[in-house]
Amino acid sequence: MKQNQPKIKVISSGKYIPETLITNEDLEKLVETSNEWIMTRTGIQTRHKAVNELTSDMAYKAALNAIERVNYDKNKIDLIIMATITGDQMTPSTSNFVQAKLGLEHHVMSFDINAACTGFVYGLEVASALLQTKRFRSALIIGGETLTKIIDYTDRNTCVLFGDGAGAMIIEPSDDPHDTAYFFNAAKGDLNDTLTVKKFIQMDGKKVYQFAVGAMEGAIVKILNESHLKIEDIDMVIPHQANERIIQSVSKSTGIPIEKFMLNLSEYGNTSAASIPITISEYFDRKDVKGKKILLVGFGGGFTWGSSILQL
Ligand code: ACO
Repeated sequence: MKQNQPKIKVISSGKYIPETLITNEDLEKLVETSNEWIMTRTGIQTRHKAVNELTSDMAYKAALNAIERVNYDKNKIDLIIMATITGDQMTPSTSNFVQAKLGLEHHVMSFDINAACTGFVYGLEVASALLQTKRFRSALIIGGETLTKIIDYTDRNTCVLFGDGAGAMIIEPSDDPHDTAYFFNAAKGDLNDTLTVKKFIQMDGKKVYQFAVGAMEGAIVKILNESHLKIEDIDMVIPHQANERIIQSVSKSTGIPIEKFMLNLSEYGNTSAASIPITISEYFDRKDVKGKKILLVGFGGGFTWGSSILQL
């Protein structure tokens, strides 16, 4: 084990999902597609759409959900990292809006990061590293997206895949060796527009699919090796929720039973940086999670990919 692994205490997690639903039947009316095609190729049944709500509104509600879950003293939070590709505006950062909406007027360091769908796993590593300096008491990491505002609803290749939502996590520094966290994050710069957002999301679905399977498998193997843990030591794998078939392929290639992957993409679709923290929050809803070990694994545009093992 490397000596410099960060130790963090996972305090809470929360989520917010906007009410309005987009069903496969709704999409059948917009583009030439079918419920059957979408279900068999992706596993997605519905996705949610933010109406008159900004990314910062959803992020604020997810943060509040995490705070209220454990009656947390929000005034302890002095670091906010928001992962998003659909921030409210160029500047101020969406995290600054969240800080204001939470009413945090004390000294807080607050900024956004963009690592596409891997953004939350990146943000978690950045926050954990900053907490090791002991200059911060508590970090709020949020993944939040309003992807429906960058979807071309005449493009059947993309419009069936994505939805809106936000998820949040609160962590504190720790000295307990049981709280050792492991991270692996990487990027492979792509100049070929394989997965890109100029005005709308555009992608070469097949290339992204192939990249995703290899990247997720590699990230799982790497983090298990680095932590000297076996898959049997992990209670739940929480993958980026892009496509059920991608996760099934990863299950097959790694030999990890599909039951060990927590899935909710049939309800939410791909919510990019929000998908992993939304799923963590739903894992927290099970109430018996104290002491469990989770393995997070994501991939996204850039390309970016990464994994993490946390003790709850
Ligand atoms: N309904 C019906 N037909 C469709 C649809 C649709 N919604 N979308 C595409 N098709 C058609 C295509 O036009 C193409 O038709 P053609 O062969 O006549 O040209 C055909 O279906 C493509 O079929 P396949 O190549 O067999 O489709 P595939 O099995 O690759 O599934 C999919 C496509 C679902 C997009 C898959 O490639 C995929 O999931 N890729 C990964 C996408 C992803 O995860 N992106 C998010 C990355 S995360 C981030 O950072 C945003």
